[in-house]
Amino acid sequence: MRFKVWLKSRVADRVLLPLRKELIELIDPGSTVFEVGCGTGDLLFRSASKIKSGYGVDLDPAMIEFAGNKRLERDLDHLTFECIDALQVSNTQFDVSTSTLCLHELPESKACDLLRLMVDRSKVVLIADYTAAKSTSSKIGIEFDELISGHYGNYKRYRRSGEIPSYAEKIDAVVELEIASEIDGISIWKISKRATNS
Ligand SMILES: C[S@@+](CC[C@H](N)C(=O)[O-])C[C@H]1O[C@@H](n2cnc3c(N)ncnc32)[C@H](O)[C@@H]1O
Repeated sequence: MRFKVWLKSRVADRVLLPLRKELIELIDPGSTVFEVGCGTGDLLFRSASKIKSGYGVDLDPAMIEFAGNKRLERDLDHLTFECIDALQVSNTQFDVSTSTLCLHELPESKACDLLRLMVDRSKVVLIADYTAAKSTSSKIGIEFDELISGHYGNYKRYRRSGEIPSYAEKIDAVVELEIASEIDGISIWKISKRATNS
């Protein structure tokens, strides 16, 4: 297993466990779920017993290979993982589209395109991403993580622009709810398509 995947599955996925639980709480039982930037597939594996199906996509082949092998080991036929840019995914509808800690990494236009795709493809969109942390240790931790991530500029622009709500506004979608995660510095936003008056 590559070091990056090992670190992701053994450290990051464990740290993010409270967030996974919070997201799974927000997903109705029996839902079809589309996850953009699924990484090791941790959210879909943890929600597997609750959902009807899960489709996770990621640009990173090593992450998708890890998720695909785990799916086979656990015999979870209702989960599918694909190494593909989410913007290239065929025009399927889902009950829920979700993405965790992905949009802040990207240039604003790409993040907005992905958010628009999720809003178009599902009734409910759940985005978990960075927001202002309360404690100094979390602030320093997130800054350090982002500094070494290779996408610090995109992260800073994301924070300055007004985070996920500003992206939702740009694509004319509605933020129905913001829930502060137990993990300081992360929020979950529930977003939906704006109703048309016709
Ligand atoms: C910080 S990781 C988060 C992974 C996972 N969501 C989690 O919570 O552990 C962001 C992931 O988004 C993926 N990603 C970024 N842009 C993408 C795109 N256009 N389509 C699919 N995946 C994308 C990256 O490859 C990366 O694995």
